[in-house]
Amino acid sequence: MDVTRIYELRQAVLRPHQDRKAVAWSGDSDPDTIHVAAYDGAHIVAIGTMLARNEHGDRDQRSRQIRGMAVHPDWRGHGLGGQILDWLIDHAREAGAIEVWCNARTPALSLYRRRGFVPSGVEFEIPHAGPHFRMRLGLSR
Ligand SMILES: CC(C)(COP(=O)(O)OP(=O)(O)OC[C@H]1O[C@@H](n2cnc3c(N)ncnc32)[C@H](O)[C@@H]1OP(=O)(O)O)[C@@H](O)C(=O)NCCC(=O)NCCS
Repeated sequence: MDVTRIYELRQAVLRPHQDRKAVAWSGDSDPDTIHVAAYDGAHIVAIGTMLARNEHGDRDQRSRQIRGMAVHPDWRGHGLGGQILDWLIDHAREAGAIEVWCNARTPALSLYRRRGFVPSGVEFEIPHAGPHFRMRLGLSR
């Protein structure tokens, strides 16, 4: 998949205050980065991205960061976000990672908690994106 195809939904849902160029994130084109998309016909309605990065921002095959989870408003609550997250977690485990982490928006915490992620540290604010928690999931084999 051409990664730029996910930028429209990423920008609309997660970065409406930015222009399209700003949602091309560092690491999007790394060879070990995974982008997952769900389609309704030709339209992308749900997305998620996973990078081989540790919490210091370094490339690290033992760790995976999930970013850019977004579902079109008309499609929320139908399980797409959960299915994408489950797929990414399975892929991280199969790739040999020992942990998955993300900076989760506080209103979306239950999506991660239901899959065993636990918060670490205190809630923090990301400008324009609201309150977040660092969430971590250890992967057992
Ligand atoms: C968070 C998000 C990715 C979840 O995707 P989804 O496809 O709605 O998720 P699911 O259908 O698998 O359900 C996940 C949860 O969302 C809840 N939900 C249901 N309808 C919803 C709606 N209209 N809006 C937000 N959440 C909703 C469900 O109750 C469920 O919570 P639960 O696990 O406690 O039962 C999606 O709501 C979204 O894009 N939100 C805006 C952007 C955002 O917050 N992204 C996450 C950044 S960490």
